[in-house]
Amino acid sequence: MKFNLTDVTRLIRTRRSIRPEQLRNRKVHRDQLELMFEAANWAPNHGKTEPWRFKVFQEEALQALQQHMADVYKEVSAPDAFLQSKYEQIQARAQKASVAIVVWMKRQESGRIPEEEEMMAVACAVQNMSLVATAYGMGLFWSSGKVAYAPSFAKYLGIESPDRVLGVLYPGYPEEEWPEGKRNIWMNKVEWNGF
Ligand SMILES: Cc1cc2nc3c(=O)[nH]c(=O)nc-3n(C[C@H](O)[C@H](O)[C@H](O)COP(=O)(O)O)c2cc1C
Repeated sequence: MKFNLTDVTRLIRTRRSIRPEQLRNRKVHRDQLELMFEAANWAPNHGKTEPWRFKVFQEEALQALQQHMADVYKEVSAPDAFLQSKYEQIQARAQKASVAIVVWMKRQESGRIPEEEEMMAVACAVQNMSLVATAYGMGLFWSSGKVAYAPSFAKYLGIESPDRVLGVLYPGYPEEEWPEGKRNIWMNKVEWNGF
């Protein structure tokens, strides 16, 4: 055995998404982020495209980002679906999280590799980041949805089609106890053939 399987499986199972609202006021340091990006960079990818890209925000830049996201939320919400509380929650994430990371996909110039595969490679990169975050005792929350996918958000970030914004990541330490994960058993998800 090359690695200790008990540690590896425990790390995988311990990984958690922790909402910015549930984060403790403790700074995430640049060297920790650099180790996360180093791990991201080792994700598998088809055709050596390495399509994962990140934009990192803290301090005033984070405040501006969250204010813009709140404004985009207002813009994309139908008037009867808009919630002032949600608007304020998006703004307040600048106080709860110490850093936000926009994750986006850089489309291969030739477009030979299908877009789905490029997105899957970016997701693998985020998983690698999450595992490093777990080792530090941090969660990593992936926020996607209508704000992240809004054309005006991409424009604000200077990201142009066919490149795509895939979400905003919030690493950080939980305020309370490390949350329990929950999964249905894997045995119902696997079909064995020829065994
Ligand atoms: C691609 C992707 C996008 C996600 N987007 C959201 C999101 O917009 N809002 C949200 O509450 N959780 C989002 N999540 C996180 C899930 O809620 C979370 O993984 C799930 O609740 C399981 O919890 P765990 O990650 O702690 O095991 C996303 C996860 C992935 C992989």
